[in-house]
Amino acid sequence: SRSRPCKVDAVSAKLQAVRGMNDVLPEEAALWRAFQALVEDWLERWGYRAIRMPLVENTTLFRRAIGEATDIVEKEMYSWRDELNAEELTLRPEGTASCVRAAIEHNLLYDGPKRLWYGGPMYRHERPQRGRYREFYQYGAEALGYAGPDVDAELIVMCARLWPELGLNGIRLELNSIGSAAERALHRAELIRHLQANEAQLDADARRRLQSNPLRVLDSKNPAVQEVAAKAPLLASYLGEASRAHFDGLKKLLAAAGVEFTINPRLVRGLDYYNLTVFEWISDALGAQGTVCGGGRYDGLFAQLGGKPASGAGFAMGCERLVALIKDSGNAPVARQPDAYVLHQGEGTLEYAFSVADALRAAGHPVVLHAGGGGFKSQMKKADASGAWVALIVGEDELRANQISAKPLRKAGEQQRIGRGRLVAEFAATLNRARS
Ligand code: HAM
Repeated sequence: SRSRPCKVDAVSAKLQAVRGMNDVLPEEAALWRAFQALVEDWLERWGYRAIRMPLVENTTLFRRAIGEATDIVEKEMYSWRDELNAEELTLRPEGTASCVRAAIEHNLLYDGPKRLWYGGPMYRHERPQRGRYREFYQYGAEALGYAGPDVDAELIVMCARLWPELGLNGIRLELNSIGSAAERALHRAELIRHLQANEAQLDADARRRLQSNPLRVLDSKNPAVQEVAAKAPLLASYLGEASRAHFDGLKKLLAAAGVEFTINPRLVRGLDYYNLTVFEWISDALGAQGTVCGGGRYDGLFAQLGGKPASGAGFAMGCERLVALIKDSGNAPVARQPDAYVLHQGEGTLEYAFSVADALRAAGHPVVLHAGGGGFKSQMKKADASGAWVALIVGEDELRANQISAKPLRKAGEQQRIGRGRLVAEFAATLNRARS
């Protein structure tokens, strides 16, 4: 059996996050929030509507949708048996399968095609490295029920418009058409024939894969195998008229929208549900894990999951990779700083400070109320460190006079008194001066 002693069993062991699963600490979480707000707004602006699916699905869903012979299904899924219900379950490794399952289950296409988006964590038991994690976040968009190359173009053009909104450049587009299942079968047979005819030049690895996964042989790093691969028949020459027309339609729309691309005849993607269009957006600034977004068309998936046949196309982008690029770009947004930090010292001043902070928050200001005691001097250090624009000081003096002292923190300026009765208006004026 595969059972090994659990690493964290020792009572004294210092607990750490699971390998490949990240904490996002507050400073970076601010960047994530800004990123998520922008991306979600962008998806809605393009007419996509949110859908939320569970993180856990029946294992069968992914086996059927993604394909038995893929890396994900063969070795990367977090699967287990739920003995209570006798169910085989899996943490979702991607969102397309769940999204199509939900569309079938709730008959979402009954009144016509739908544009949907989702976001959230995905789980793959990969070898962690920079840009590759075991828990990672995706945003996905799926256009369900549209057969033409127009939505393929829409999905690609919308990404092209997002990158500059995120302040990113240098993300390039690779495009391919992998045709229909029948066209791929034809090509595959020819490919195997070609590899067999040159078997003497293949290494053991390539010979082993020759039947099971001939396309993989084309990715070999061995120069002798590469020589054979270079002369292998190309899938593109096996595409029929309909597939070619679809691809031409897409390329025309991309050209009209001014979106540049390179055709990569080797681009096949790692999931089995694709047909016709496949594409990837790649940044060279991320090292080995440079694909920030991938997608394509999956016209067979509805029927494969037991639904009425329907077209589908979509993409998903890796949030960690995009956030890393934004961070490196130097235009990362920062967390909103508090407008005020409220200090207090003396009999009855805490209650007073509470009511001051409360009134300002009700007026929409982010306010931090000092907690934990200490003298004015140490409280002022905390106020400075908080990044607040204004320190509001409440001592016994201020309490007696029904006033508050206000001091700008981020530029030179006199301390002034504000009347408690006109707190909101006078604080707004003080804040304006402190920020200008
Ligand atoms: P995918 O290519 O497997 O496609 O993943 C999409 C993106 O998720 C990748 O380009 C990458 O940015 C990010 N990603 C994948 N695995 C990891 C990982 N281990 N760590 C960090 N980021 C990762 C799909 O998932 C399809 N569902 C896309 C799709 C939607 N096709 C049609 N509709």
